[in-house]
Amino acid sequence: MTYLRLGVNVDHVATLRNARGGKHPDPLVAAQAAIAAGADGITIHLREDRRHIRDDDVRRIRGIIDAPLNLEMAATEEMLRIALATRPNACCLVPEKRTEVTTEGGLDVAGQRRALAPIVGALRDAGIRVSMFVDADWDQLEASAEIGATIVELHTGAYAEGKDGELQRLREAAGLTPSLGLECHAGHGLTFANVTPIAALPEVVELNIGHFLIGEAVLHGLAPVVGRMKALMAEARA
Ligand code: PXP
Repeated sequence: MTYLRLGVNVDHVATLRNARGGKHPDPLVAAQAAIAAGADGITIHLREDRRHIRDDDVRRIRGIIDAPLNLEMAATEEMLRIALATRPNACCLVPEKRTEVTTEGGLDVAGQRRALAPIVGALRDAGIRVSMFVDADWDQLEASAEIGATIVELHTGAYAEGKDGELQRLREAAGLTPSLGLECHAGHGLTFANVTPIAALPEVVELNIGHFLIGEAVLHGLAPVVGRMKALMAEARA
């Protein structure tokens, strides 16, 4: 099976820092530690309300981390401008509501093709890989391919909450991605306890995991936690 990459999302290191308004803990230092512990890339979400990652974090992490940077962002003109100035390796377009605690559902690509296509095109023209964070749904996959996305990241939130039938839906959706020419990623709500069936899906080549890893790292340290997640992912592929 293909190698499965782990992107570590360091947003919640910034959440902790912002609780006191200073500089500590620094998401850049967490990103460096995650890479040293075996992470294959770093993911950050610059939200419109800047509740965790801030513009300066994006610049610093982009400038110092050599590993691939995946910038999650809403499909807005402001975020497009920042992405084009920062040039991350990939941008993952996500839906964003100010009232939500986290990204609650997938992006409605099928319903917003005309608005999303120019943003996808502008990012691709700049050499940035473009990912759509979508629910495991044929219409969303087909629309993502049609507007030129390179990647779909399947939203695993409902699976992580134990919703019936979700693993099968994810399996079927992942299985459809090669015929659409899409690379398949997955993420949201993944933990040591639920990662194995997702890591075993052969079409999935990258997982993006944040909240659980950072939460566990508070108790056990980032290096062992990233190391254990990588080991579980590798076992699932074997
Ligand atoms: N992928 C995307 C697109 C996300 O928005 C998030 C949450 O920021 C994640 C992955 C990671 O989710 P979690 O923090 O639950 O691991």
